Amino acid sequence: MERDPRCPLPPVSQLLRQQGQEHLVEHLATLEPAARTRLEARLRCIDWEELSRPATPPSLEQLEPPRVITLAERLGRGAAWSRLGEEAYRRGQVAVLLVAGGQGTRLGRREPKGCFPIMPHSGKSLYQLQAEKVVSLSRRLGHPVPLLLMTSPATDEPTRAFFAAARGFGLTPDQLRIFCQGTVPSTDAAGRLLLAGPGELLENPDGHGGCFTALVASGNLSRLRQEGIRYLVYIQVDNVLAPVDDPLLVGLCAAEGAEVITKVLPKAHPDERVGHLLRVGGRDHIVEYTELSSEDVRRRGPDGELIYRWGSPALHCFSTAFLARLAEAGFRLPLHRSRKPLQAYVDGQVRQVVGYKSERFIFDLLPQAQVSLGLEVRREEEFAPVKNAVGDDSPDTAVRLASALYARWLEAVGVRVALPPGALIELSPLLAATESQLRQRWDGRVREITAGCLLE
Ligand code: UTP
Repeated sequence: MERDPRCPLPPVSQLLRQQGQEHLVEHLATLEPAARTRLEARLRCIDWEELSRPATPPSLEQLEPPRVITLAERLGRGAAWSRLGEEAYRRGQVAVLLVAGGQGTRLGRREPKGCFPIMPHSGKSLYQLQAEKVVSLSRRLGHPVPLLLMTSPATDEPTRAFFAAARGFGLTPDQLRIFCQGTVPSTDAAGRLLLAGPGELLENPDGHGGCFTALVASGNLSRLRQEGIRYLVYIQVDNVLAPVDDPLLVGLCAAEGAEVITKVLPKAHPDERVGHLLRVGGRDHIVEYTELSSEDVRRRGPDGELIYRWGSPALHCFSTAFLARLAEAGFRLPLHRSRKPLQAYVDGQVRQVVGYKSERFIFDLLPQAQVSLGLEVRREEEFAPVKNAVGDDSPDTAVRLASALYARWLEAVGVRVALPPGALIELSPLLAATESQLRQRWDGRVREITAGCLLE
């Protein structure tokens, strides 16, 4: 409901008392007028209702197998989908959505994760790698494909500076559209908002799902629609192998009139820590491993297959009409709450407390879709995440996975690859971002690769 501007707003203190936030009333009283006004303005914007009602996983009683296009089915129908998708790319109906607003806590660097120099020979960053995939696609098509890049308040300024210093890595200013996501306050176990310092709430970016609201609020979704963009290929900045030039994905979305396509992988093992694609009550859902019991994730059906078989590598295609439909209906993605050790300002000092952080998840869009499908992909071709500084899902594992994929592409064009242990191949996306681009561009001059190298 619109507020009548003639009616004065109730005092913030009244609002805070109603919400059980008396500690903030006391804190406001200790602040200088300017700091008090700033904090009051922020507190007025908080959606207390959504904060106090975090999302709950769907009831798993009406479980059915999700509709997933398997690798076997792709063999038969993939060529037709790819033709359709290629047509959509050629007509300028596809844009790329790259989310990069996360805090990168596990990687443990000061700068945004996208600035991490990942590639083994060139030292290219994750940002450059993802940007060059879009440049390469645009060159192939002969027109600029928009790249929508979501940052958060902490990563926005350094991300803009990073791209500006590199002249957008070849993306035109019109093509690269950086927009910033919102934040959500953290709370203690009783739901009281925590502070980061005097006059400042402890907040975090509102999750990858924040891209839905931010796309709408920044005006980017309307702009895409006006430009005739029908499909958004969604990737995350930390997946080195995330494809953006994917006619089969887009073509499947077009052919099936789907609102969402979710790429899936058979889980590497029953306990793999991934989101699981499930169908409940006729709608697709992704349920995080944290929301399933260890018995559930290991359960097998009569065919011996895991019931929760499909893991999500966080790769999607969304129809922009779908996003616009939800935006018009005022849809908001729910918050998920998780218990975390947090650095909060308590009793005049910053110290570690156990609190609750809330985030929106992109995959909560799935249950809203009337038509939603899974698409099986090969892990070794599309998924090389950088989450941790060392060990599993680290820069080291990601570049090894990328090198192994480039080696297979090179072998497919007739190159003999015999690398010594530890040696890595790096292939610039500007030379080839897909196997089929490599086939078209490869001039056959190199016949053998026996040491680590950069091909560009
Ligand atoms: P993760 O959930 O893996 O989080 O994000 P992260 O921030 O990269 O790392 P940790 O958990 O703090 O260690 C997966 C993708 O979603 C983006 C990230 O930038 C990454 O591309 N993301 C995450 C956002 O864009 N915004 C968020 O609020 C959270």
